[in-house]
Amino acid sequence: MPESYLIKNATCVLPHATHTMSVLLADGKIHLDPPATATADHTIDATGLHLLPGVIDDQVHFRDPGLTHKEDLHTGSRACAAGGVTTFLEMPNTKPTTTSCEALHAKLDLAAGKSIVNYGFYIGATPDNVEELKKAKRTPGIKIFIGSSTGNLLVDEQEALERIFAETKLPICAHCEDETTVRANAAQLDGGKTHRDHSKIRNHEAAVIATRRSMDLAIRHQHHFHVLHVSTAAECQLLQAYYASLEHINDSVVSAEVCPHHLLFNVEDYDRLGSLVQMNPSIKDATDNARLWAALNEGTIQVIATDHAPHTLEEKQQPYPQSPSGLPAVENSLALMLNAVNEGRTSLERVVDAMTAAPAKIWNIANKGQLSDGFDADVVLVDMNKKRTVRNAEQQTKSGWSPWDGVELTGWPVKTWCNGNLVFDGERVDVDHRGQEVQFNRED
Ligand code: DOR
Repeated sequence: MPESYLIKNATCVLPHATHTMSVLLADGKIHLDPPATATADHTIDATGLHLLPGVIDDQVHFRDPGLTHKEDLHTGSRACAAGGVTTFLEMPNTKPTTTSCEALHAKLDLAAGKSIVNYGFYIGATPDNVEELKKAKRTPGIKIFIGSSTGNLLVDEQEALERIFAETKLPICAHCEDETTVRANAAQLDGGKTHRDHSKIRNHEAAVIATRRSMDLAIRHQHHFHVLHVSTAAECQLLQAYYASLEHINDSVVSAEVCPHHLLFNVEDYDRLGSLVQMNPSIKDATDNARLWAALNEGTIQVIATDHAPHTLEEKQQPYPQSPSGLPAVENSLALMLNAVNEGRTSLERVVDAMTAAPAKIWNIANKGQLSDGFDADVVLVDMNKKRTVRNAEQQTKSGWSPWDGVELTGWPVKTWCNGNLVFDGERVDVDHRGQEVQFNRED
């Protein structure tokens, strides 16, 4: 059993209100507002600090097995703990790919030995593995690359997509960039010469076509579908039109996500940051940034996740198009969003919901994502006034860099508990802690 912690006088962001109260973490669970006589192994005066549910990042790439020179389940989860992330859901484009139940179970075994925080793994779709997808149980859902990215996972044929949506029951998420459009753009630009070409190849049209196509599949098959990393104003419009067409919002089968880099970077950043902001989907224009913030604030986009996709600096420094797409973000995402709250771009309540309760609901995660009695003691204490500058040298990710290197942010996690255990004390991560496999509320 973990040691108990009495966190006194924290400003607690609860599901429907924010109150200053004490919280006891004991037996791995949350106990709100314990009796004044309650005692614990450790007492923490949290006056002036905010207590939030631990972040659930539903899109990370931890490269384990097979690509562990970039990241592994230990270093990726170490970055999580320092960033206030207590649960991650990881993507299947590892080596081997996670496209069978056997590979899924092997990854879960690997994580049990290496991961500091709680973990779950998607099963990846291929054009012909629908039987494996139907058998998979210990997973949040199915990931489809409807448009290729890092690795060779791709399901682009309509017939295969129809079959996956028709025959499987798990929630589906997808990387939405239209392969035909991307290839045609690349051919026209002779493969691309500079990083700016990346956003011309993986352009607005590519994202919108693929998102429209997958939403159409989800709606026809009434299959729960999550649009990963929305990057354009036009996709926000598609989502908004769909929600407006429903009699009741609870009838929706589609949810959507945005990443900090699509909120905060645009094509003007290529001159300064080059391949460090080369991502799939590509970063777009300032007008897209503005629409994405509005979509997040109005609820058209429900989830914030990172798509943490580390590559080594050496790999990134290759000339375009050899430079790989992806950037690390998991240890800075909460601070980036708290900083955005301090800048008045969004509210703390909106950020907390989008990083905790919303992903828990979408992926049917049991007992996590809320500061509620009896929920798992996955919590993070944040100091909204703490100023710190992101530094490459201080990054926990094995890749050892951040596109936000040198940027001062206000609002940082100062302590993280995972299953009631203090895994980050403000300076050090408890690298000996091991997280647990996420459980899902599902009838299967
Ligand atoms: O830029 C990206 N990199 N986008 C993805 O979807 C995959 C990721 C990776 O795995 O490197």
